[in-house]
Amino acid sequence: MSNSGTDAALTATGGLFGVYVHWPFCAAKCPYCDFNSHVHRGAFDESAYVDAYAREIAHFAAETPGRTIQSVFFGGGTPSLMDPRSVERILNELARHWTIAPDVEITLEANPTSVEADRFRGYRAAGVNRVSLGVQSLRPEPLAALGRRHSVEEAIAAVRLAQSIFPRSSFDLIYARPHQTLADWRGELAEALSLADAGHLSLYQLTIEQGTRYFDLFNAGKLAMPNEDLSADFYALTQDMTALAGLPAYEISNHARPGEESRHNLLYWRYGEYVGIGPGAHGRLWREGTRHATAIEKLPFKWQQLVAEQGHGLVTDDTLTWEEEGDEMLVMGLRLREGIDPARFARIARRALSPQQIAALRDIGFVETLPNGFIRVTEKGWPVLDAVVADLAA
Ligand SMILES: C[S@@+](CC[C@H](N)C(=O)[O-])C[C@H]1O[C@@H](n2cnc3c(N)ncnc32)[C@H](O)[C@@H]1O
Ligand code: SF4
Repeated sequence: MSNSGTDAALTATGGLFGVYVHWPFCAAKCPYCDFNSHVHRGAFDESAYVDAYAREIAHFAAETPGRTIQSVFFGGGTPSLMDPRSVERILNELARHWTIAPDVEITLEANPTSVEADRFRGYRAAGVNRVSLGVQSLRPEPLAALGRRHSVEEAIAAVRLAQSIFPRSSFDLIYARPHQTLADWRGELAEALSLADAGHLSLYQLTIEQGTRYFDLFNAGKLAMPNEDLSADFYALTQDMTALAGLPAYEISNHARPGEESRHNLLYWRYGEYVGIGPGAHGRLWREGTRHATAIEKLPFKWQQLVAEQGHGLVTDDTLTWEEEGDEMLVMGLRLREGIDPARFARIARRALSPQQIAALRDIGFVETLPNGFIRVTEKGWPVLDAVVADLAA
């Protein structure tokens, strides 16, 4: 590759490369969830299913030679339903095709039931060094309402066990739930912060997604969701309490002690390069001087069949235009507390951000320019992020 080609690749990817592996199965479907997750019944040959991951990895490795993997993320669905030997096999396949960075971050999403906690040591032995647990709530009634299959006590035990086995861990909570008050959340979050002493928390406001059972309930007037003002209060309280506890937001919904941020998620938001393996996975690959948006067949067994027939389950492989790349970089990067580098934006999007737009948004306190030249959305601007992004992209 010529020097200018190397420079272009470095600008495009930020020197970041990671792999996302999607495991599409769950023990049951939660009523709020629109992730690509499926409950399968009957016989299942997991080892044969993992063969398909191995083949798809080989396909993408041939398209992205010479890269060094800095992060791997097993997401779902419920990857903690996987046999640890399947995780090990996939990691071995990744190492066979790419170089693995010595400080690679390997995260696995886990549900906090006791059955799954029993597999934690196996995942650690396979090479996983970070887990992200879907606790969702530390109160029994909301856990039941969210259709979760674990108790509060089981979840706390799983968090503690994970902290004792893995060098790094995190857990997710969903807040701004029906009937939840600010006082309820203050108490729950305080407990979560003392439990998450290790350093990372993902805190999501409940969203109503089309195609879920919650969507139908909401439309039938059977879910009392907080109004806009209360949602904003929930958000502000969350920002204040996490910052005070030393886990400030580094992204809209993600909080960490400095240095404990999820490197894999940072790779997405910093608009790096990533391969998506498994049903429904998305990727952004840099090939022949352009960025490609890839998507894989979502249905788990149709995907397996496609891989058997053609070596991969790709259903989309689009070249992005400069304009699309610029828009994506804004959507992703402005979620970050560190903001975006306008010079890199200009090189990727082949256009500069409008100084007039920036000035107008700065005047109303929605964006600011940092001493390093990066532009970021202020705390005041975060609740209206979509509008700020639309203004800057216009
Ligand atoms: C891939 S999902 C779940 C991973 C894992 N299977 C679990 O349930 O713990 C990742 C996270 O997204 C969040 N999430 C999913 N649907 C959501 C929704 N409708 N509103 C807010 N957060 C949601 C949950 O906190 C969840 O842990
Ligand atoms: S929230 Fe997790 S366990 Fe529930 S359906 Fe979604 S991916 Fe599966």
